[in-house]
Amino acid sequence: MKLQLESIRNAAKDLLEKVSSKQELEAVRIKFLGKKGELTLILRQMGSLHPEERPKMGSLANEVREYIEAIIEKKTEEIEASERESRIKAETIDVTVPGILHPLGHRHPLSIVLDEVKEIFLGMGFKIATGPEIEWDYYNFEALNIPKNHPARDTQDTFYITDNMLLRTQTSPVQIRVMEHSQPPIRIIAPGRVYRSDAIDATHSPLFHQIEGLVVDKGVTMGDLKGILMQFAQRMYGDNTKIRLRPHHFPFTEPSCEMDVSCFRCGGAGCPMCKNEGWIEILGAGMVHPKVLENGGINPDIYSGYAFGVGLERLTLFKYSIDDMRLFFENDLKFLTQF
Ligand code: PHE
Repeated sequence: MKLQLESIRNAAKDLLEKVSSKQELEAVRIKFLGKKGELTLILRQMGSLHPEERPKMGSLANEVREYIEAIIEKKTEEIEASERESRIKAETIDVTVPGILHPLGHRHPLSIVLDEVKEIFLGMGFKIATGPEIEWDYYNFEALNIPKNHPARDTQDTFYITDNMLLRTQTSPVQIRVMEHSQPPIRIIAPGRVYRSDAIDATHSPLFHQIEGLVVDKGVTMGDLKGILMQFAQRMYGDNTKIRLRPHHFPFTEPSCEMDVSCFRCGGAGCPMCKNEGWIEILGAGMVHPKVLENGGINPDIYSGYAFGVGLERLTLFKYSIDDMRLFFENDLKFLTQF
């Protein structure tokens, strides 16, 4: 038995020297000291020894157990220390390593110009209003003095959801919605998407954006409209920009006009940008038709107003000398990152 105990001690010592993890350590402990471990089994055999032998063997067995336990304890500490160290090493952050560059997106050219437009009008006391893109025929046409079968509907063919519900062809329906919900003085711009049943080419898209403007108050005149539009044009395209109002027709304004700005490329002399005209058309406008004021619940005998509608794509094309509107919607990064 003495020999057995010694060989257990040596075997345990050899094995323990090689362990490098807590699991291995636990396996060795079980192998020798566990319920069915080698040392435990020996201790169970004590009873079969000669009574004189028992105390000697007993103390030798205890010694071996303590010996093994001591090594296990020491090894546990060593392993824990080295685990701690490697954890610290793994968690070390080298603050001098160059970062990973994530490509950052940026604003779309249409958003850049829209923000500029908003900024200009907010600065002049306008508020921003919105309306739905899926609109009732009533707001898009009827209330704007465009009854069924009016020829103006031909130029604004759109996508119908039902006979009475459509994708709005203009932001003008927001005029009615705003008037219905507020009392003068009204000063709003209403930017948003509009839709028309147009084939896509360099200057047409079935989806585009407009910015509507509406001012209603006592004594508002065409002169006020002209002043505001002049401010807008000069802030947008530079202080030397001239404007020109040409008579036009819209069913919901009377009188109506279109506004041209002097070509910011050639200053009016004529160039490919303005098709040699020296002028570029950028918006439609006019004095709100009395019937339209009435449809919005406003008394035309007391109040008057003006409205205008700007095409955001046109503004942006000219601002950046872009010659094809399709570029705005193709999402080609080579184009978009230039702005
Ligand atoms: N809604 C008109 C269009 O889409 C533009 C416009 C708005 C004209 C407001 C006059 C007043 O063509």
